[in-house]
This record gives sequence, structure tokens and C-alpha cells, in this order.
Amino acid sequence: MRPRFRAPPRPDSLNALTSQEMQIPVAQQHEPLPDLTGRTVVVTGTTSGLGLALSGALAGAGARVLMTVRDAERGKAAVEQVRAGLEGRGSAETVLLDLADLASVRTAAADVRERTGDQVDVLINNAAVSLGPHERTRDGFELQLGTNHLGPAALTWLLMPALRAAGNPGQPSRVVMTSSLGHRTGGLDLTDPHWDRRRYSPTLAYGASKLANLLFAAELDRLVRRTGDPVLSIAAHPGLTASELLNNSLTRGGTWRARLLVLPDRLLSQPVTDGIAPQLLAATGAVRGGDYVGPTGSFQTRGPAGPASRSATARNPELARKLWEFTAATTGVTPDPQPVSRPGPGGTG
Ligand SMILES: NC(=O)c1ccc[n+]([C@@H]2O[C@H](COP(=O)([O-])OP(=O)(O)OC[C@H]3O[C@@H](n4cnc5c(N)ncnc54)[C@H](OP(=O)(O)O)[C@@H]3O)[C@@H](O)[C@H]2O)c1
Repeated sequence: MRPRFRAPPRPDSLNALTSQEMQIPVAQQHEPLPDLTGRTVVVTGTTSGLGLALSGALAGAGARVLMTVRDAERGKAAVEQVRAGLEGRGSAETVLLDLADLASVRTAAADVRERTGDQVDVLINNAAVSLGPHERTRDGFELQLGTNHLGPAALTWLLMPALRAAGNPGQPSRVVMTSSLGHRTGGLDLTDPHWDRRRYSPTLAYGASKLANLLFAAELDRLVRRTGDPVLSIAAHPGLTASELLNNSLTRGGTWRARLLVLPDRLLSQPVTDGIAPQLLAATGAVRGGDYVGPTGSFQTRGPAGPASRSATARNPELARKLWEFTAATTGVTPDPQPVSRPGPGGTG
């Protein structure tokens, strides 16, 4: 029998609307995974939704999966659920990580490097928040940019030595950034990244963070090609997938937009077991560095994974370079690889 996944319970009153009600089978809507025995995969945001299902699928294929969680208790429930579905191979363990806290990102990266002996084959940057009110991370960054881009970028840079060490030309390691159809919403204003001057728009701020994911993936791809590092940088998006994303937003006092989206989200979304297909393709399938993959049916909202299209802004190399510089200056984390040229700050998309 296939293992079944249920998101660990949240202390909120929205359970009637959440996919916690759904038993989520690990369906094989994606291509069968290769044997991942001996491979180490780090997945962020694994207490619910895509991250939980990804962890189950990857560990089920034999990988050692390091599941990052920001709450130890919820993490325990999630990892036990994944372990319960394993059939004698693969393993899962938790790593504490709060992407909205750079000190936690540094601690988690050091923890992963130590536990793995500096050998990480795949990093899937999956965790995110969406559509809440204007909040800030512990370091003072706008919450969506901080959690969805700045934290993951810092984590990626800090784990690059382990990714570089695990990869080889025949089997490069991989960094997967998880973006969204929403990356087309608005642009990325690096002159007001934390919405200090503009009236806050949760939708535009989410779109900016998901645009940043694509720009970061493109710049990482450009740089690893230049350095010759055995690392592929790939981006993926899950179309519309039933997860806890909107409910998590509502729990944090999400906006009326988030409330309006709950019902359409439930009606139109594909199951999480289908939604993970693009990230699995990016993490384990036949892709090239720089690729962007997503569902190929119904206006890219559902269906089999394949090539995805990105906005013209997401293909702007100058903006990608500026974002890289901005991210280094903002986080204080040294970029890896180091940028070759150093253009000035600022810029909009
Ligand atoms: N579902 C969709 O239709 C859809 C569409 C486009 C893109 N995406 C993308 O898919 C990815 C996964 O989202 P999902 O739909 O699976 O949502 P989800 O069910 O809400 O899962 C998000 C995960 O991120 C974690 N997270 C949130 N804030 C964090 C922080 N500060 N530090 C560390 N982890 C944090 C959450 O942990 P907690 O449980 O602790 O909150 C949770 O495990 C996201 O990048 C999202 O932008 C989803």
C-alpha cells in the first residue's frame, strides 16, 4: 500500500478549510524517480504541503532527506509521518531552520554541513509565506522577501561548499528554487525592497519574492557555469496546488485577498502529490542548469511537469546581477560563487 501523508495539526481554527482533512497519497503522477540511495537532499518547509510530500517521495526513493522545520514539535510529527511511509530504504531527519531569522539560517547551514560531512547532493528551496499583512523578519526585512528570497539565498550560499563537494561533472549537485505563476505580478523594486515608502501590497510583495527566486536561480546558473562548479541551478513552480499556503496566511491575519482565494484555491488546485512533479523533475530528472519547469496543462496550473515560461523581467540579467549584490549587502552573507562584476545598487523590474 502507498504511504499516506497528513499535515501535522496547526493550532488554528481553520481546519475545516485545510488539506489537513485530506488523506494525501503519494501518487506517482510524475515520472518514476531514479534510485536515490546514497544521495543527500535538503528540503525546506516540510511541515505541510509540497515540502512534506517531497520529503516522502524522495526518502521513498532511497535518499537521506534533511527536512527543515521551524517548530520542533510539528517537525517531529512530519518526520514520523515520512518515516512511517518508508519501505526499508531512505531516511528522514529534521533540521531546525527559520528563514525569517538570519542567525537561524547560519546555524542550520552549519548543522547540515556537519551532519552530512559537507556532502549535499540536492537543495530544494521550497519554504515560503504568502499574502499576509506587512510584517518584518527578525532582521527587519519585509516578511515575504525575507522568508522567500533573502533567507533561501543566504542558505544556498552557505551550503555551496557542501553542494560543490558532492557534485561531479557526471552527476552535478542541484539547487532548486521554487517560484510561482505569481512571479509575473508586479516587479522588483530594489530601491524600496521592504516597502518603507510604498503602500504595502501583499500580492505584489509575494510576486516580487517569487520573481526574486527566478532571478536568483538565473544568476546562480550564470556564475556556476563561469566557475565550472559541478552544480546545476534550476527553478520550478507547482502551478496551483492544494497546500497550507493560504491557510498559513490566514492564520497570520492574512488579507481579504487571501480570504477570497481560499475557495477557488480548493476548487481549482491539483493535489499536492501532482504538484510536487515539477520540483521532483528539477531535483532528479533530465534538466539543464538554468531550466525552469512547471505543470504543462491548463495555462500551466496543473498537469505533467515540463518547460515553464517566465516573464521578461525574470530574464533580465542586469536585474539578476543587482539582486545578487543587494542580497549580499542586505544579508551580510558572502555570496558563493563570488560575482565577477559589481554593478551599482538600485533598479526596478
Ligand atoms: N500551493 C501552490 O499553489 C503554490 C503555487 C505557487 C508556488 N508555490 C510555492 O510552493 C512552495 C511550497 O508552498 P506550499 O504551497 O507547500 O505551502 P505550505 O503548505 O504553506 O508550506 C510552506 C512551508 O514553508 C514553511 N515556512 C514558512 N515560513 C517559514 C520560515 N520563516 N522558515 C522556515 N520555513 C517556513 C512552513 O512551515 P510552518 O508549518 O512552520 O509554517 C511550511 O512548511 C512555496 O515556495 C510557494 O511559494 C505554491
